[in-house]
Formats: sequence, structure tokens, C-alpha cells
Amino acid sequence: MKKVEVSLENRSYDILIDENLILKFPVYLEGLLNRKFLAIVTDTNVENLHLSRLLTTLKNAGIETKVLSIKAGESSKSWETLQATVDWMLDNKIERNDLVVAFGGGVVGDLVGFAAAIMRRGIQFIQCPTSLLAQVDSSVGGKTGINTSHGKNLVGAFYQPSLVISDISTLKTLEERDFLAGYGEVAKYGLLGDYEFYCWLEENAENIRNRDIHALIKAVAHSCEMKSAIVIADEKEQGERALLNLGHTFCHALEAATGYSERMLHGEGVAIGSVLAFDLSAKMGLTSQEDPTRIKKHFEDMGMMNSINNISGTLPNADKLVELMFQDKKVVDGKLNLILAKGIGKAFIARDVDPNLIKDVINNSLAI
Ligand code: GLY
Repeated sequence: MKKVEVSLENRSYDILIDENLILKFPVYLEGLLNRKFLAIVTDTNVENLHLSRLLTTLKNAGIETKVLSIKAGESSKSWETLQATVDWMLDNKIERNDLVVAFGGGVVGDLVGFAAAIMRRGIQFIQCPTSLLAQVDSSVGGKTGINTSHGKNLVGAFYQPSLVISDISTLKTLEERDFLAGYGEVAKYGLLGDYEFYCWLEENAENIRNRDIHALIKAVAHSCEMKSAIVIADEKEQGERALLNLGHTFCHALEAATGYSERMLHGEGVAIGSVLAFDLSAKMGLTSQEDPTRIKKHFEDMGMMNSINNISGTLPNADKLVELMFQDKKVVDGKLNLILAKGIGKAFIARDVDPNLIKDVINNSLAI
């Protein structure tokens, strides 16, 4: 089993990564449970696929459970579902010292983490992420929250879990497109800060695509190691944590332009956005011209979207897309800060990027 430590003083925790961890769940609760009781929040998809195995394991260990299953999908990251989740905890008399498990993908993790943060002014929670995106990104680092009519993730809290249990076996049941979208975030780690890891990903593209368990354990563990180091250095995103947003400003504009729909999943937008960030870096003479082509080829080898042109339906023009980019959290004093790169594995925060260069890069991508 791989163990990654997130050292944050009294908010420190471990990330455990291996296959079949659900079947050994009680072992990892040692020292965390104040009574033989767990509250579990999951969604309707994960409930059908994995819940019974978890419940049987816990029952055999004499641990009583209460389960809430929310509707699967991004629409559950809402005020309504947050209220329903907190009310459910209160109805079931979840105590201050009880533990709640977020058993699902990024939506469940973000929602339950936020509910735990505000429930009785904070109860402990465990992330048990079941999607690739959640295992390598959203379950680690304590960002929790919901969406509102004003935008995504605008209400929330930094609230760290007490433990993350990433059972790699759950990745086997993901739809191909969801799995690959999660891979966009894995590749991001190599692109932003580790050239060797990126080369390993290129060499192991086929194994990863075939969901070879050993390749997946290494990919998830290394992604978590990188994220942990960044979160330890900058928990509340005052500086270098922003590097984790490589490709995200482009992605957020494309998500808004496609109405957060099935036309483009978040991780697909991260892949497209990362290519555009490298296109822009090459245009500015920061990185070689070959890098964006190489990255596009890797995403193509993985069977993923790698260009704006892969998004179905019509899109707004470059002017409008750049306007949407200016809604980003990294806009300060009306100036757009972006994550660019001085080579693969060498991302940095670029201040006050010229919007005309971004338009050129988007137009080039649209024209290909
Ligand atoms: N998903 C980016 C972060 O956790 O900072």
C-alpha cells in the first residue's frame, strides 16, 4: 500500500492508496472512531456499484452505519442538497465526535466536506474517493464547497479531512470518458512540475488506459505526493497552490461557454486548457514549439480531447472566450494572471498576460 502524508500541523492526515481498501476499511479507522458508528454519504451511482461491500465490511467489524444517498451529478453541489445533508446528520443525531465518510466522486467529497465543516461547527470526515479525478485532486487539500447561481465553487471552506482512503479498484467501474477526464488532472501534475513523471506517463499511456492496477497506483500516488507538497507549502492558495490551476482558466471559460454540460467534462477542459497554456507559452517564447505538439499527441494517444475543435456544437468566438476568462479568480485589479510554463514540468504564475496573445492562440486552435 502507498501512503502519502499531508503534514499540516494539527490538521495532518494520510492518504492511503491501494486496491481493495474498501474490504479492509475498519483497520484504517483505528484511533479515529470514538464509538462504533459511522455516517456515510454517497450518491446513487456509487451506492449501486460499491456500497454493499463497504457496509458488509463495517458490519462484520461491529460498526453501525447510517447512509444518505444523494442524486449523482454536479447539480447536487447546491444549497438544497447541503441543507438536506446537514438536516439528515442532525435528524440522525450525528455527534460532534462522530465521523462522516464522503464515499463517491468530487461532488460527494466537496459537498460532504463542506457539510462536515459547518455541522456543529466542525466534525471530522474521511474522504473515500471513487473517481480518478477525486483520487488525484478534489479529495486532497481540503477545498470543500458548493455551486451557486453565480458560479461554481463560490461558497465553501478550506476544511481538511482526517484521512483519505483511495481504493484503486473502484476506478475499474468508471465509464471510459469519466476515467479519461480524470486523467487530464493526472497529466497536469507532470506538466506543471515533474518532467520525469510526464515521461513516465507517456511511456505508460497504454497501461494506464487499460487500467493496469500497478500503473494506476503509481499514477495516483505520485499525483497525491505532488499535490500534498504544494498544499503543505500553501494551504490557502496565497501563492504556489495556484500552479494546480494549470489549464483551468481556459477550462473555466470553456465550461461556462458549454453550459457545464456533457459537451465537455471538467477534466477534458483541463487537458484542452493545458495544451492552450503551452501553446501560449510557446508563442511567448517561454517554451519550445515542440512542447504543445508533444502534449497534444499524448492526449491523443490516451483517446482524449486535446483541442477546442473536439468540443461538439458551436462555441463563442475568441473575444467572448477571453471575456469569460476574465471572470477567473486569478484576475486581480482587472489583470489576468495565468499559469504558463518554461518547459514541461516548469509551470509558473504569469502576471498580466496580454489578452490579444490569448485570442491569437484560441483563434489558431479554432482554425486547426
Ligand atoms: N483543485 C485545485 C486545488 O485543490 O487547489
